[in-house]
Amino acid sequence: MAPFYVKNQSKMGSCSSSSTFTTTTAMMILLLLFCSLIDPASSVDLSLCPTTQNSGKWEMLLSIGISAMHMQLIPTGQVVIFDRTDSGRSNLSLPDGQCRYDLTNKALQVDCTAHSALYDPVSNTARPLTVQTDTWCSSGSLRPDGTLIQTGGFGDGERKVRTFTPCGRFGSCDWVELNEGLHVRRWYSSNQILSDGRVIILGGRSTFTYEFFPKANADEKAVYLNFLRETRDPMEENNLYPFLHLLPDGNLFVFANRRSILFDYNKNKILKEFPEIPGTDKRNYPSTGSSVLLPLRLNGIQSGAAAVAAEVMICGGSPAGAYNMSHRQRIFVAASTSCGRIRLTDPSPEWTMEEMPVRRVMGDMILLPNGEVLIVNGALNGTAGWEDAIDAIKNPVLYRPDEADPKKRFDVLRPTETPRMYHSTAILLPDGRILVGGSNPHVRYNFKAYPYPTELSLEAFYPPYLGQQHALFRPSILSVEAAEQSVSYGQQFSINFVLKVYWPQCHGGISVALIAPSFTTHSFGMNQRLLFLEVGKVEHLSLLAYKVTVAAPPTATVAPPGFYMLSVVHSGIPSQSLWVRVH
Ligand SMILES: *[C@@H]1O[C@H](CO)[C@@H](O)[C@H](O)[C@H]1NC(C)=O
Ligand SMILES: *[C@@H]1O[C@H](CO)[C@@H](O)[C@H](O)[C@H]1NC(C)=O
Ligand SMILES: *[C@@H]1O[C@H](CO)[C@@H](O)[C@H](O)[C@H]1NC(C)=O
Repeated sequence: MAPFYVKNQSKMGSCSSSSTFTTTTAMMILLLLFCSLIDPASSVDLSLCPTTQNSGKWEMLLSIGISAMHMQLIPTGQVVIFDRTDSGRSNLSLPDGQCRYDLTNKALQVDCTAHSALYDPVSNTARPLTVQTDTWCSSGSLRPDGTLIQTGGFGDGERKVRTFTPCGRFGSCDWVELNEGLHVRRWYSSNQILSDGRVIILGGRSTFTYEFFPKANADEKAVYLNFLRETRDPMEENNLYPFLHLLPDGNLFVFANRRSILFDYNKNKILKEFPEIPGTDKRNYPSTGSSVLLPLRLNGIQSGAAAVAAEVMICGGSPAGAYNMSHRQRIFVAASTSCGRIRLTDPSPEWTMEEMPVRRVMGDMILLPNGEVLIVNGALNGTAGWEDAIDAIKNPVLYRPDEADPKKRFDVLRPTETPRMYHSTAILLPDGRILVGGSNPHVRYNFKAYPYPTELSLEAFYPPYLGQQHALFRPSILSVEAAEQSVSYGQQFSINFVLKVYWPQCHGGISVALIAPSFTTHSFGMNQRLLFLEVGKVEHLSLLAYKVTVAAPPTATVAPPGFYMLSVVHSGIPSQSLWVRVH
């Protein structure tokens, strides 16, 4: 019999305010009790399972004084946010009356305002950070030790590498610029952390090469990749911020414009070219769509029973010629309505196309801890670029990759009131909320522009799983049984958690997700990765306490070394995450 217990006053496992114990909930519990007394296995009524069919909610958080063009969650739970340094005065002063002097800065030669901030979601506060050179349209990754490596930018920053080393919630750490830089300029390039802990930095405006950081030796140069030249459209580009995903076999998936390859970056060899994504819509900047590596499922992997399947999903973008039309003629054509899914590990991979309920350019795709995908931000018409889009799309959309019926995969969720156009961002927080920020479709900061002013606010979206009606089903992690919250490849380890109602018959019962936090800019979450670990046994320890034993990812190509958020998911409802280091 499935053990369970109901407790009304406890806030355990609940992400927001105290649970409300409604009549409906009480009835549901009675029904659950009734069913489980008979025989939980044979008389399961799946209509009693928690469904995530509510439309979520929005909460305005804070004005941080800068527009959030780039965001990275770091293992202290804080978020490093930065913009460019040459868009004029921000609304956040540098600490201690500091100013920067830069005669090449067209907007402001003496600048006493900040263009980076450290945000703490727990206290909902931010403090200014100091970037010394221009970080405009750059890229980044977390290194295995949790240090943020930021690469490239514009002007004096185009070959810079900067680090931000987390120092705890009360520290005063700040950006450090390294002496060793990039081999070539990187503006609009993408990063991916690799199995050896290095970062590959690939592409960029007029940059048809890739390079690594750190370099193996001082002479290591950038390597030419003709695919990047071939995928560049004249006048429009449509191949910037290429989508990169490290596949479980260690090779790199590179998608640019409409084409994609399986790339062995060690040998500089294209192993395979996948079919072009069907249709004529372009998917990369400025026809900005988004891309995720769908959750990797590791069940059966440890026993060698299966290879890890890898599937990519790309959504939104703009039709060919859209940037020309908006930029030269001020005609804003409808954005792409389609998503494509391709299982890269199939013998002959093919795209499966699906239609979103709403079209979108500049949407952010976020992997949620329960394996669903959220698509948020962006516009209905036009492309990325200054003044190049109209009609903000304020409704997020939820996508369920595992739903068998294609008609039931998408849900349109509750709209925000704040348009998030070009230069907006969104990331997953450890508590399960989505942090949304930015939007500045103008050359300079412009707070009076209508209808899309430079937006300095941060906002949180609560996905449907955070709804109060799921409080009883929400696990809450007590501890991870691993020395220093650190696990090595293939290691078995256990997680203790509490749960008010254990109802394993729904949605696969208990699963455990490991989530790599993304570096997000221009609608692409670099390094975003979600693994469902191989689950061993689930033990019932006491009235409310359980223990689940899982296997850490098998190899560094499946999960590059570094910090991951660990979440226990019960019947589709995820717990808050704890940080675990994988090495
Ligand atoms: C800028 O900061 C001032 C003072 O804190 C505030 O009154 C104003 O509303 C801010 N402007 C914007 C656009 O957030
Ligand atoms: C964009 O416009 C330029 C100049 O008018 C033209 O050369 C180019 O072919 C156009 N590109 C597309 C994709 O329409
Ligand atoms: C946006 O695109 C739709 C569909 O093509 C079109 O009907 C509409 O006029 C466009 N909006 C504007 C303001 O151009």
